[in-house]
Amino acid sequence: MSASVIVCKGCCCGKIEKGHNEVPVDALKSAWEKSGLEEHVKLTISGCLGPCSMHNVSLLKTKNGNIWLGKLNSYEHYDALVEWGSNVAEYGIDAELPEILVPLQFERAEDAYSMAF
Ligand code: FES
Repeated sequence: MSASVIVCKGCCCGKIEKGHNEVPVDALKSAWEKSGLEEHVKLTISGCLGPCSMHNVSLLKTKNGNIWLGKLNSYEHYDALVEWGSNVAEYGIDAELPEILVPLQFERAEDAYSMAF
């Protein structure tokens, strides 16, 4: 498997009671299955990934590195994760990020550190 999508649903991301937006886990899982992505891109629903202030967070991992996404606040954002998975299945890990996700990217210090050494 050449890529992973890790969707946070931890202590903050997706917690409606904390005033955050829902993470549509069931819709995401069924879209993944319907699109036949599981053999190409691994989908994981995870506990806290660390940067809670960026709720809702997702992480796209390939051997090219990590793409952190924050402030996913609509179904369109999660649909775009499915679109990215489909693009990777079709074109490989250099597939472009859907446009709607581009402004949601952020950097984490530990990624910058690991790339520097
Ligand atoms: S709960 Fe998602 S980053 Fe902490």
